Amino acid sequence: IISAAIFDLDGVIVDTAKYHYLAWKKLANEIGTDLSVEENERLKGVSRMDSLDIILSLGGLQFSEVEKVAMADKKNTWFVDYVNQMKPDEILPGAKNLLESCRANGIKVALGSSSKNAKAVLDLLKIAHLFDVIVDGTMIKKSKPDPEIFLLGASLLNIPPDQCIVFEDAEAGVEAALAANMRCIGLGSPAQLGKANLVIPDLKNFTIEDMINLVPIH
Ligand code: BG6
Ligand code: MG
Repeated sequence: IISAAIFDLDGVIVDTAKYHYLAWKKLANEIGTDLSVEENERLKGVSRMDSLDIILSLGGLQFSEVEKVAMADKKNTWFVDYVNQMKPDEILPGAKNLLESCRANGIKVALGSSSKNAKAVLDLLKIAHLFDVIVDGTMIKKSKPDPEIFLLGASLLNIPPDQCIVFEDAEAGVEAALAANMRCIGLGSPAQLGKANLVIPDLKNFTIEDMINLVPIH
């Protein structure tokens, strides 16, 4: 049975994954390297500092901790600038509908995002009230693929992990969900997310009935 749905934010509920990519690419270019769309897949779901480390290792670059913190701050300033210009229509198609129908069917709803900007993004889009629990990057020690974020969400909801279903667009997120002993629906391409229980392109045509067909609710 399924009693709770846990949603990733960037790339699942809102189209912010593109802004993370633009900001990281800008930083990569500034330090004399680059970041391809394919390489960027490895950054999805991963914390800010871990993302920077991946970019530096791809480019064969090394910097001091102090320099790295300054770079991560710079990337975040650009990301926040993009986000502040976002309009409510950048909520991804089908996402709000699914959140609302989960609630209407007695399924608890949590956010499980590695982002430290998650709460600000939800407030900006005026959808924070749709979540029973919000777990973000400020509340965890280890980011995805570690299961900590999803296990914390389940425990705050007071629901056993095996009664949770996770919606994820990142390979690291799918791994985290499975490591937490949760079911996982991958949003994107099967090439990246093949380990998920089901992979669909997006939430546009996905209804609560589809979710219940996959795993019955109590
Ligand atoms: C995740 C994104 O949701 O949050 C990653 O998929 C991002 O790309 C991570 O690096 C951390 O986000 P932030 O906003 O704390 O830098
Ligand atoms: Mg994501």
